[in-house]
Amino acid sequence: MHPALKTLLRAHVADAPLYVSAAMAADKDDDLVFLNANENPYELPGLAGLNRYPQPQPPKLLRALAELYGVAPEHVMAARGGDEVIQALTRLLCEPHKDAIVQHSPTFGMYAVDAGLMPARVVDVPLINTGTTFTLDEEALIAAGQSQGAKIVYICSPNNPTGTSFPHDQIRRIARALEGHALLVVDEAYAEFSVQGSLAPHLAEHPNMAILRTLSKAYSLTAARVGALLCADADFIALFQAKGLDAYPLPRPSIEAAMAVLSTDVQKVAWENIRTILAERDRFLAAIRALPAVRTIYESDANFLLVEIARANAFWQHCFGQDIVLRDLSEKPGLAGTLRISIGTPAEMARVEELLAAWEPT
Ligand SMILES: Cc1ncc(COP(=O)(O)O)c(C=O)c1O
Repeated sequence: MHPALKTLLRAHVADAPLYVSAAMAADKDDDLVFLNANENPYELPGLAGLNRYPQPQPPKLLRALAELYGVAPEHVMAARGGDEVIQALTRLLCEPHKDAIVQHSPTFGMYAVDAGLMPARVVDVPLINTGTTFTLDEEALIAAGQSQGAKIVYICSPNNPTGTSFPHDQIRRIARALEGHALLVVDEAYAEFSVQGSLAPHLAEHPNMAILRTLSKAYSLTAARVGALLCADADFIALFQAKGLDAYPLPRPSIEAAMAVLSTDVQKVAWENIRTILAERDRFLAAIRALPAVRTIYESDANFLLVEIARANAFWQHCFGQDIVLRDLSEKPGLAGTLRISIGTPAEMARVEELLAAWEPT
Protein backbone atom coordinates (compact mmCIF):
# COMPACT_ATOMS: atom_id res chain seq x y z
CA MET A 1 0.00 0.00 0.00
CA HIS A 2 1.23 3.51 -0.82
CA PRO A 3 2.63 5.22 2.32
CA ALA A 4 0.33 8.22 1.69
CA LEU A 5 -2.60 5.87 2.37
CA LYS A 6 -1.07 3.47 4.88
CA THR A 7 -0.38 6.26 7.37
CA LEU A 8 -4.05 7.29 7.27
CA LEU A 9 -5.47 3.96 8.45
CA ARG A 10 -6.43 3.62 12.09
CA ALA A 11 -3.64 1.80 13.92
CA HIS A 12 -5.62 -1.33 14.80
CA VAL A 13 -7.02 -1.98 11.33
CA ALA A 14 -4.09 -4.02 10.01
CA ASP A 15 -4.34 -6.50 12.92
CA ALA A 16 -8.13 -6.59 13.20
CA PRO A 17 -9.46 -10.10 12.52
CA LEU A 18 -10.93 -10.83 9.15
CA TYR A 19 -14.28 -12.61 8.70
CA VAL A 20 -13.92 -15.24 5.98
CA SER A 21 -17.47 -15.66 4.82
CA ALA A 22 -18.90 -18.82 3.32
CA ALA A 23 -19.35 -17.19 -0.05
CA MET A 24 -15.67 -16.21 -0.16
CA ALA A 25 -14.50 -19.78 0.23
CA ALA A 26 -15.73 -20.83 -3.20
CA ASP A 27 -17.19 -19.15 -6.25
CA LYS A 28 -20.97 -19.56 -6.07
CA ASP A 29 -21.07 -19.98 -9.83
CA ASP A 30 -19.05 -23.19 -9.49
CA ASP A 31 -20.96 -26.44 -9.76
CA LEU A 32 -20.25 -27.52 -6.17
CA VAL A 33 -22.26 -28.97 -3.31
CA PHE A 34 -22.40 -26.21 -0.70
CA LEU A 35 -22.73 -27.54 2.84
CA ASN A 36 -20.54 -24.90 4.45
CA ALA A 37 -22.87 -22.03 5.41
CA ASN A 38 -25.92 -23.54 7.09
CA GLU A 39 -27.94 -22.45 4.08
CA ASN A 40 -31.30 -23.97 3.18
CA PRO A 41 -30.88 -26.23 0.13
CA TYR A 42 -34.44 -25.56 -1.11
CA GLU A 43 -35.29 -22.53 -3.21
CA LEU A 44 -38.83 -21.27 -2.74
CA PRO A 45 -41.06 -20.69 -5.79
CA GLY A 46 -40.14 -17.53 -7.70
CA LEU A 47 -37.14 -16.84 -5.48
CA ALA A 48 -34.33 -18.56 -7.36
CA GLY A 49 -30.88 -18.24 -5.81
CA LEU A 50 -32.05 -16.42 -2.70
CA ASN A 51 -31.37 -19.42 -0.45
CA ARG A 52 -27.60 -18.88 -0.90
CA TYR A 53 -25.43 -16.12 0.54
CA PRO A 54 -24.28 -13.71 -2.17
CA GLN A 55 -20.61 -13.15 -2.96
CA PRO A 56 -19.31 -10.16 -0.99
CA GLN A 57 -17.55 -8.67 -4.05
CA PRO A 58 -18.85 -10.49 -7.14
CA PRO A 59 -16.05 -10.52 -9.73
CA LYS A 60 -18.49 -10.06 -12.62
CA LEU A 61 -19.92 -6.93 -10.97
CA LEU A 62 -16.45 -5.53 -10.25
CA ARG A 63 -15.49 -6.12 -13.90
CA ALA A 64 -18.65 -4.38 -15.12
CA LEU A 65 -18.19 -1.41 -12.77
CA ALA A 66 -14.51 -1.16 -13.74
CA GLU A 67 -15.45 -1.02 -17.40
CA LEU A 68 -18.14 1.57 -16.69
CA TYR A 69 -15.75 3.84 -14.80
CA GLY A 70 -12.67 3.19 -16.96
CA VAL A 71 -10.44 1.67 -14.26
CA ALA A 72 -9.03 -1.80 -13.53
CA PRO A 73 -11.28 -4.24 -11.58
CA GLU A 74 -8.77 -4.36 -8.70
CA HIS A 75 -9.29 -0.62 -8.30
CA VAL A 76 -13.03 -0.97 -7.55
CA MET A 77 -14.88 -1.81 -4.34
CA ALA A 78 -18.62 -2.40 -4.65
CA ALA A 79 -20.78 -1.38 -1.71
CA ARG A 80 -24.37 -0.98 -0.57
CA GLY A 81 -24.68 2.49 -2.06
CA GLY A 82 -22.39 5.48 -1.75
CA ASP A 83 -23.67 5.77 1.80
CA GLU A 84 -21.93 2.55 2.81
CA VAL A 85 -18.71 3.75 1.16
CA ILE A 86 -18.75 6.89 3.31
CA GLN A 87 -19.43 4.82 6.41
CA ALA A 88 -16.50 2.50 5.61
CA LEU A 89 -14.13 5.40 4.97
CA THR A 90 -15.02 7.00 8.28
CA ARG A 91 -14.75 3.74 10.18
CA LEU A 92 -11.34 2.69 8.83
CA LEU A 93 -9.66 6.09 8.84
CA CYS A 94 -11.04 8.21 11.68
CA GLU A 95 -9.94 7.51 15.23
CA PRO A 96 -12.89 8.34 17.55
CA HIS A 97 -12.52 11.50 19.62
CA LYS A 98 -9.28 12.35 17.81
CA ASP A 99 -9.42 12.55 14.02
CA ALA A 100 -11.44 14.81 11.76
CA ILE A 101 -13.07 14.99 8.37
CA VAL A 102 -13.06 18.17 6.32
CA GLN A 103 -15.99 19.17 4.15
CA HIS A 104 -17.09 22.25 2.26
CA SER A 105 -20.52 23.36 3.37
CA PRO A 106 -23.16 23.27 2.09
CA THR A 107 -22.71 19.72 0.93
CA PHE A 108 -24.09 16.19 1.22
CA GLY A 109 -25.11 15.57 4.81
CA MET A 110 -23.88 12.00 5.20
CA TYR A 111 -20.19 12.90 5.65
CA ALA A 112 -21.00 14.77 8.86
CA VAL A 113 -23.59 12.21 9.98
CA ASP A 114 -21.09 9.34 9.84
CA ALA A 115 -18.34 11.45 11.39
CA GLY A 116 -20.74 12.38 14.19
CA LEU A 117 -21.34 8.72 14.98
CA MET A 118 -17.65 7.77 15.31
CA PRO A 119 -17.39 10.47 16.65
CA ALA A 120 -14.88 12.36 14.52
CA ARG A 121 -14.68 16.14 14.34
CA VAL A 122 -16.18 17.86 11.32
CA VAL A 123 -14.14 20.77 10.05
CA ASP A 124 -16.32 22.89 7.84
CA VAL A 125 -14.86 25.12 5.13
CA PRO A 126 -17.81 27.07 3.71
CA LEU A 127 -18.09 27.45 -0.05
CA ILE A 128 -17.90 30.98 -1.41
CA ASN A 129 -21.24 32.13 -2.82
CA THR A 130 -20.60 34.35 -5.86
CA GLY A 131 -24.30 35.10 -6.37
CA THR A 132 -24.78 32.70 -9.28
CA THR A 133 -22.59 29.79 -8.24
CA PHE A 134 -20.32 28.52 -5.48
CA THR A 135 -16.54 28.16 -5.44
CA LEU A 136 -14.16 26.25 -3.21
CA ASP A 137 -12.09 28.13 -0.67
CA GLU A 138 -8.99 26.30 -1.89
CA GLU A 139 -6.48 27.71 0.57
CA ALA A 140 -8.71 27.15 3.59
CA LEU A 141 -9.57 23.62 2.47
CA ILE A 142 -5.89 22.73 2.08
CA ALA A 143 -5.00 24.37 5.40
CA ALA A 144 -7.77 22.43 7.16
CA GLY A 145 -6.72 19.16 5.50
CA GLN A 146 -3.09 19.68 6.45
CA SER A 147 -3.36 20.87 9.99
CA GLN A 148 -6.39 19.77 11.94
CA GLY A 149 -5.88 16.04 12.33
CA ALA A 150 -7.94 15.50 9.21
CA LYS A 151 -8.01 12.02 7.71
CA ILE A 152 -10.56 12.61 4.94
CA VAL A 153 -11.28 15.72 2.87
CA TYR A 154 -14.51 15.45 0.90
CA ILE A 155 -15.10 17.35 -2.31
CA CYS A 156 -18.52 16.70 -3.76
CA SER A 157 -18.57 17.50 -7.47
CA PRO A 158 -21.18 18.10 -8.76
CA ASN A 159 -22.08 19.20 -5.28
CA ASN A 160 -25.31 18.26 -3.56
CA PRO A 161 -27.24 20.53 -2.91
CA THR A 162 -25.73 23.41 -4.91
CA GLY A 163 -25.28 21.59 -8.25
CA THR A 164 -21.81 23.07 -8.63
CA SER A 165 -18.96 21.27 -10.39
CA PHE A 166 -15.53 22.31 -9.23
CA PRO A 167 -12.69 22.51 -11.80
CA HIS A 168 -10.70 19.29 -12.13
CA ASP A 169 -7.42 21.25 -12.12
CA GLN A 170 -8.32 22.73 -8.78
CA ILE A 171 -9.36 19.39 -7.25
CA ARG A 172 -6.10 17.83 -8.42
CA ARG A 173 -4.10 20.73 -6.97
CA ILE A 174 -5.83 20.14 -3.63
CA ALA A 175 -5.09 16.40 -3.87
CA ARG A 176 -1.39 17.09 -4.39
CA ALA A 177 -1.29 19.53 -1.47
CA LEU A 178 -2.93 16.94 0.79
CA GLU A 179 -0.60 14.06 -0.09
CA GLY A 180 0.87 12.75 3.17
CA HIS A 181 -1.87 14.53 5.16
CA ALA A 182 -5.32 13.25 4.20
CA LEU A 183 -7.30 11.18 1.72
CA LEU A 184 -9.14 13.32 -0.79
CA VAL A 185 -12.49 11.72 -1.56
CA VAL A 186 -14.17 13.13 -4.63
CA ASP A 187 -17.85 12.32 -4.46
CA GLU A 188 -19.00 11.95 -8.05
CA ALA A 189 -22.51 10.68 -7.34
CA TYR A 190 -23.84 12.99 -10.09
CA ALA A 191 -20.89 12.83 -12.53
CA GLU A 192 -22.93 11.32 -15.37
CA PHE A 193 -25.03 14.49 -15.51
CA SER A 194 -21.95 16.70 -15.51
CA VAL A 195 -20.41 18.38 -18.53
CA GLN A 196 -17.08 18.07 -16.73
CA GLY A 197 -17.25 14.29 -16.28
CA SER A 198 -15.15 12.17 -13.95
CA LEU A 199 -11.67 12.43 -12.49
CA ALA A 200 -11.27 8.65 -12.77
CA PRO A 201 -8.80 8.90 -15.71
CA HIS A 202 -6.44 10.81 -13.37
CA LEU A 203 -6.73 8.49 -10.36
CA ALA A 204 -3.35 6.85 -10.99
CA GLU A 205 -1.61 10.23 -10.68
CA HIS A 206 -2.96 10.81 -7.16
CA PRO A 207 -2.09 8.17 -4.55
CA ASN A 208 -4.18 9.92 -1.90
CA MET A 209 -7.33 10.26 -4.00
CA ALA A 210 -10.42 8.06 -4.05
CA ILE A 211 -13.63 8.52 -6.00
CA LEU A 212 -17.14 7.66 -4.88
CA ARG A 213 -19.64 6.59 -7.54
CA THR A 214 -23.17 5.26 -7.42
CA LEU A 215 -25.71 3.59 -9.69
CA SER A 216 -28.48 5.35 -7.73
CA LYS A 217 -28.84 8.52 -9.75
CA ALA A 218 -27.93 8.33 -13.44
CA TYR A 219 -28.75 4.62 -13.61
CA SER A 220 -32.12 4.82 -11.83
CA LEU A 221 -31.10 2.23 -9.23
CA THR A 222 -31.61 4.04 -5.92
CA ALA A 223 -33.67 1.22 -4.40
CA ALA A 224 -31.07 -1.47 -5.16
CA ARG A 225 -28.33 0.38 -3.19
CA VAL A 226 -25.22 -0.11 -5.33
CA GLY A 227 -22.26 2.22 -5.05
CA ALA A 228 -18.52 2.01 -5.56
CA LEU A 229 -15.22 3.31 -4.31
CA LEU A 230 -12.44 3.74 -6.87
CA CYS A 231 -8.79 4.05 -5.90
CA ALA A 232 -5.60 3.38 -7.83
CA ASP A 233 -4.13 1.45 -4.89
CA ALA A 234 -5.25 -2.18 -5.17
CA ASP A 235 -4.09 -2.97 -1.61
CA PHE A 236 -6.19 -0.11 -0.21
CA ILE A 237 -9.22 -1.39 -2.13
CA ALA A 238 -8.60 -4.99 -0.97
CA LEU A 239 -8.38 -3.85 2.65
CA PHE A 240 -11.63 -1.92 2.35
CA GLN A 241 -13.36 -4.89 0.75
CA ALA A 242 -12.17 -7.18 3.54
CA LYS A 243 -12.55 -4.95 6.60
CA GLY A 244 -14.61 -1.92 5.70
CA LEU A 245 -17.92 -3.49 4.80
CA ASP A 246 -20.46 -5.93 6.18
CA ALA A 247 -19.75 -9.59 5.46
CA TYR A 248 -22.41 -9.58 2.70
CA PRO A 249 -22.81 -5.96 1.65
CA LEU A 250 -24.73 -6.54 -1.57
CA PRO A 251 -27.97 -8.53 -1.63
CA ARG A 252 -28.22 -10.86 -4.61
CA PRO A 253 -31.23 -9.03 -6.17
CA SER A 254 -29.14 -5.83 -6.07
CA ILE A 255 -26.21 -7.54 -7.77
CA GLU A 256 -28.57 -8.83 -10.46
CA ALA A 257 -30.19 -5.42 -10.89
CA ALA A 258 -26.76 -3.80 -11.25
CA MET A 259 -25.70 -6.37 -13.85
CA ALA A 260 -28.91 -5.72 -15.78
CA VAL A 261 -28.36 -1.95 -15.69
CA LEU A 262 -24.80 -2.36 -16.90
CA SER A 263 -25.81 -4.37 -19.96
CA THR A 264 -25.32 -2.45 -23.19
CA ASP A 265 -29.02 -2.23 -24.04
CA VAL A 266 -30.13 -0.90 -20.67
CA GLN A 267 -27.20 1.54 -20.50
CA LYS A 268 -28.39 2.98 -23.80
CA VAL A 269 -31.80 3.67 -22.25
CA ALA A 270 -30.17 5.14 -19.13
CA TRP A 271 -28.15 7.57 -21.26
CA GLU A 272 -31.25 8.59 -23.22
CA ASN A 273 -32.90 9.32 -19.87
CA ILE A 274 -29.89 11.38 -18.75
CA ARG A 275 -30.15 13.48 -21.92
CA THR A 276 -33.90 13.91 -21.38
CA ILE A 277 -33.37 15.01 -17.77
CA LEU A 278 -30.69 17.53 -18.75
CA ALA A 279 -32.84 18.95 -21.55
CA GLU A 280 -35.77 19.26 -19.14
CA ARG A 281 -33.54 20.93 -16.54
CA ASP A 282 -32.52 23.57 -19.06
CA ARG A 283 -36.09 24.06 -20.31
CA PHE A 284 -37.45 24.36 -16.76
CA LEU A 285 -34.68 26.76 -15.79
CA ALA A 286 -35.39 29.02 -18.78
CA ALA A 287 -39.13 28.91 -18.04
CA ILE A 288 -38.86 29.95 -14.38
CA ARG A 289 -35.88 32.32 -14.61
CA ALA A 290 -37.90 35.52 -15.03
CA LEU A 291 -40.78 34.65 -12.68
CA PRO A 292 -41.34 37.29 -9.97
CA ALA A 293 -41.02 34.77 -7.11
CA VAL A 294 -37.71 33.36 -8.37
CA ARG A 295 -34.75 35.24 -6.91
CA THR A 296 -31.72 33.15 -7.89
CA ILE A 297 -31.17 29.93 -9.78
CA TYR A 298 -27.68 28.65 -9.08
CA GLU A 299 -25.68 27.15 -11.95
CA SER A 300 -26.19 23.39 -11.99
CA ASP A 301 -24.11 20.61 -13.51
CA ALA A 302 -26.43 17.95 -12.07
CA ASN A 303 -30.02 16.66 -12.19
CA PHE A 304 -31.34 19.23 -9.72
CA LEU A 305 -31.50 22.97 -9.25
CA LEU A 306 -30.91 25.07 -6.15
CA VAL A 307 -33.39 27.92 -6.36
CA GLU A 308 -33.89 30.90 -4.08
CA ILE A 309 -37.60 31.55 -3.93
CA ALA A 310 -39.66 34.24 -2.22
CA ARG A 311 -41.16 32.84 1.01
CA ALA A 312 -39.40 29.55 0.28
CA ASN A 313 -40.71 27.56 3.23
CA ALA A 314 -44.30 28.62 2.51
CA PHE A 315 -43.83 27.63 -1.14
CA TRP A 316 -42.53 24.24 -0.03
CA GLN A 317 -45.68 23.76 2.03
CA HIS A 318 -47.85 24.98 -0.82
CA CYS A 319 -46.30 22.36 -3.13
CA PHE A 320 -46.66 19.68 -0.45
CA GLY A 321 -50.35 20.55 -0.29
CA GLN A 322 -50.45 19.72 -4.01
CA ASP A 323 -48.64 16.38 -3.41
CA ILE A 324 -45.32 17.67 -4.73
CA VAL A 325 -42.33 17.24 -2.42
CA LEU A 326 -39.36 19.58 -2.90
CA ARG A 327 -36.34 19.77 -0.60
CA ASP A 328 -36.54 22.67 1.82
CA LEU A 329 -33.08 24.04 2.57
CA SER A 330 -34.24 27.50 3.57
CA GLU A 331 -33.10 27.11 7.20
CA LYS A 332 -29.65 25.67 6.39
CA PRO A 333 -26.56 27.82 6.89
CA GLY A 334 -25.60 29.57 3.66
CA LEU A 335 -28.79 28.49 1.92
CA ALA A 336 -31.38 30.92 3.28
CA GLY A 337 -34.52 31.04 1.16
CA THR A 338 -33.56 28.13 -1.07
CA LEU A 339 -35.26 24.94 -2.18
CA ARG A 340 -33.63 22.10 -4.08
CA ILE A 341 -35.72 20.89 -6.98
CA SER A 342 -34.93 17.51 -8.53
CA ILE A 343 -35.64 17.31 -12.24
CA GLY A 344 -38.54 14.94 -12.82
CA THR A 345 -40.55 14.23 -15.95
CA PRO A 346 -41.67 17.14 -18.15
CA ALA A 347 -45.23 16.70 -16.81
CA GLU A 348 -44.01 16.89 -13.20
CA MET A 349 -41.89 19.95 -13.90
CA ALA A 350 -44.80 21.66 -15.65
CA ARG A 351 -46.78 21.40 -12.41
CA VAL A 352 -43.97 23.02 -10.37
CA GLU A 353 -43.62 25.70 -13.05
CA GLU A 354 -47.32 26.46 -12.84
CA LEU A 355 -47.23 26.75 -9.04
CA LEU A 356 -44.14 28.97 -9.18
CA ALA A 357 -45.70 31.22 -11.82
CA ALA A 358 -48.71 31.78 -9.56
CA TRP A 359 -46.63 32.32 -6.39
CA GLU A 360 -46.85 35.87 -5.01
CA PRO A 361 -43.36 37.19 -4.23
CA THR A 362 -44.54 39.06 -1.11
C1 LIG B 1 -23.47 13.62 -3.16
C2 LIG B 1 -24.01 12.29 -2.81
N1 LIG B 1 -23.17 11.30 -2.52
C3 LIG B 1 -23.60 10.08 -2.20
C4 LIG B 1 -24.95 9.81 -2.14
C5 LIG B 1 -25.37 8.44 -1.71
O1 LIG B 1 -25.91 7.75 -2.76
P1 LIG B 1 -26.34 6.22 -2.63
O2 LIG B 1 -26.11 5.78 -1.22
O3 LIG B 1 -27.75 6.16 -3.03
O4 LIG B 1 -25.42 5.49 -3.58
C6 LIG B 1 -25.88 10.82 -2.42
C7 LIG B 1 -27.32 10.56 -2.31
O5 LIG B 1 -28.16 11.42 -2.39
C8 LIG B 1 -25.39 12.09 -2.76
O6 LIG B 1 -26.21 13.11 -3.03
